[in-house]
Amino acid sequence: TAGGRIFSGMQPTSDSLQLGNYLGALTQWVALQDTHDAIYCVVDLHALTVGPDPKVLRERTRRTAAQYLAAGVDPARSILFVQSHVPEHAELAWILSCLTGFGEAGRMTQFKDKSAKQGSDGTTVGLFTYPVLMAADILLYDTALVPVGEDQRQHLELSRDLAQRLNSRFGPGTVVVPEPYIVSATAKIYDLQDPTSKMSKSAESPNGLIELLDDPKVVAKRIRSAVTDAEREIRYDPAAKPGVSNLLTIFAALSGRSIPSLESDYAGKGYGDLKKDLADVVVDFLTPFQERVRHYMSDPSALDDVLAAGAQRARELATPTLERVYDRSGL
Ligand code: ADP
Ligand code: NA
Repeated sequence: TAGGRIFSGMQPTSDSLQLGNYLGALTQWVALQDTHDAIYCVVDLHALTVGPDPKVLRERTRRTAAQYLAAGVDPARSILFVQSHVPEHAELAWILSCLTGFGEAGRMTQFKDKSAKQGSDGTTVGLFTYPVLMAADILLYDTALVPVGEDQRQHLELSRDLAQRLNSRFGPGTVVVPEPYIVSATAKIYDLQDPTSKMSKSAESPNGLIELLDDPKVVAKRIRSAVTDAEREIRYDPAAKPGVSNLLTIFAALSGRSIPSLESDYAGKGYGDLKKDLADVVVDFLTPFQERVRHYMSDPSALDDVLAAGAQRARELATPTLERVYDRSGL
């Protein structure tokens, strides 16, 4: 379609995606299907960097795909597949790793943060080369646009540098140089207990998380226990009132209402009222969402067929790119 090719993916590193993944990424992916030629991937090779149990990884890969489908990713219009089903990702990553400076990779702030936590023996070479594999994911498909959050900007910059390097070493047109696709209206969701850090499935405590597959009762309880502030006023002010503002953001995004109209509705009411109503809104969203996930998970062979068909279509696009790169690099 006219908008150009889009590639995006998420790691199957938890049993459930969280609400930030849904509001910040999945809803955007679904909308982009109308205007772009979209490829959505479950990046299981990336998930190996955290050393998962094999059975758990396989289950999480399926569950992640089921959540993409439940959110509205449509395999009839988009390519939906699992990264490890297309071996070209790992093959292109090797070539790119031979074009990446050791210091250049070492400057990635996400690597610096994660490796500082894990220590040098706990940090794998895979974690170090992770952004190179991400570049391969993108460049294999002649991707024009990559929807990215702020946290992935530096990695996308590396993908662009590597694309330009391939083209200058091996000739123009070897690969397409991707651009970031930033949608400003995308909601950024924060942790319910620590509303200045983003909600993340790798959070240390689950209490600040809204997990898409959690028991709605647990979710409602977490919302009612969300950190707010010592005032009473329900007002959108992310700097002074990050907790309340985060609740308003979630409320607006899931109900389709505007933040000012919510502010005026809750004028004179307490935080308890806001939390109770928000819990209802979230549960009303989660209940049918979880029903759809259960439907996809209840027939693993149908799900596997969808993913196999997606991998085949992905491979048809990846093969000529890899052949071109192999040929031009003397392999
Ligand atoms: P997580 O931190 O939960 O592991 P990822 O880093 O795997 O999430 O991100 C997957 C996608 O979800 C990315 O597009 C990212 O920008 C988006 N995303 C993750 N957390 C949030 C959030 N709290 N608010 C908005 N978008 C988010
Ligand atoms: Na993450």
